[in-house]
Amino acid sequence: MEIKTISWSFTNKCNLNCLHCIVDAGKEYHDELSTIESKNVVDQLSQLNCNCIHFTGGECLTKPNFLDVAEYCLKKDINTTLVTNATLLDDTNVDIIKNIFNDVRVSLNGASEKTHDFIRGKGNFNKTLKVIDLLNNAGVPVIFFVTLGSINYSEITDIIKLSRVYKAAGLKIDSVVIEGRALGYQEIFSLDAQQTQSLVDEFNNGLSGILEEDDLCNISSQSLYLSPAGDVYPCVHLSLNKSKRYFLGNVREMTILQMIQKFNREILPDCKNKKCIYKFYSKGSNYILGTKNPNNSRCLS
Ligand SMILES: C[S@@+](CC[C@H](N)C(=O)[O-])C[C@H]1O[C@@H](n2cnc3c(N)ncnc32)[C@H](O)[C@@H]1O
Ligand code: SF4
Repeated sequence: MEIKTISWSFTNKCNLNCLHCIVDAGKEYHDELSTIESKNVVDQLSQLNCNCIHFTGGECLTKPNFLDVAEYCLKKDINTTLVTNATLLDDTNVDIIKNIFNDVRVSLNGASEKTHDFIRGKGNFNKTLKVIDLLNNAGVPVIFFVTLGSINYSEITDIIKLSRVYKAAGLKIDSVVIEGRALGYQEIFSLDAQQTQSLVDEFNNGLSGILEEDDLCNISSQSLYLSPAGDVYPCVHLSLNKSKRYFLGNVREMTILQMIQKFNREILPDCKNKKCIYKFYSKGSNYILGTKNPNNSRCLS
């Protein structure tokens, strides 16, 4: 039994307070996995031949033990990627980041200072662009992670241009899922059918010929989601489902192998049409538009 990838929300702690934040990040949870517990998870993933861990959060770089755990993945020969708001990256840590991660996925919520900073806080757009330059100069592949809603969907053409100017190794565009903090800002994030269609059209026009369609969900593709406190679900969206229908277990109580077996036994049979649960859960609000990956970064998912 194997696992291909895992998306690991390493902490709920975050230095920003973005309006759309799906996990309502801010304060660290009291029961987040310790360094020893985290390394035990890495050991298990290594034994399961995990190809890649996608680290996300919260903001991983707020946790003092994060780079130690990420470096341990390197020792165990597991590829890693980092999704980050980029604001805690600088000259002092860029080299270690370069050594550890296959690529860095930098979040953008607009092609303009006005929009990005409205959602992510003042000063963060320019800070993010500076860090992208820093990563580029250090030779770290940067993937743009863009999340759009009604407030910023019209900036897609400029975002595609920006990704070219900054020589992004990839561009992933999602619409805002109306969950977490976004629930309080539906009027600026919900996309109607017409806006969604215009977004899709712009994306296809702007990237014609290099568009690589992304799957709508991870389910059944040997991928899991691990929360800061060790809860495992098929994906982040299902972790937000209060019914616990898709809860696979906690790493403090079960092995990841047992959870994969549980998933295959209890959930996979429901997922013959693997798009349906994702669609059901996100109530149609999430639409992964696609991924451009011209440099074929080793583990873009
Ligand atoms: C939760 S953040 C954690 C990593 C890091 N703090 C960051 O912002 O990049 C991971 C990605 O999810 C995106 N995201 C946050 N809230 C979302 C939502 N409601 N719907 C879709 N994507 C969302 C962020 O923009 C970011 O690209
Ligand atoms: S989207 Fe990322 S940076 Fe923004 S609050 Fe959530 S975890 Fe923090």
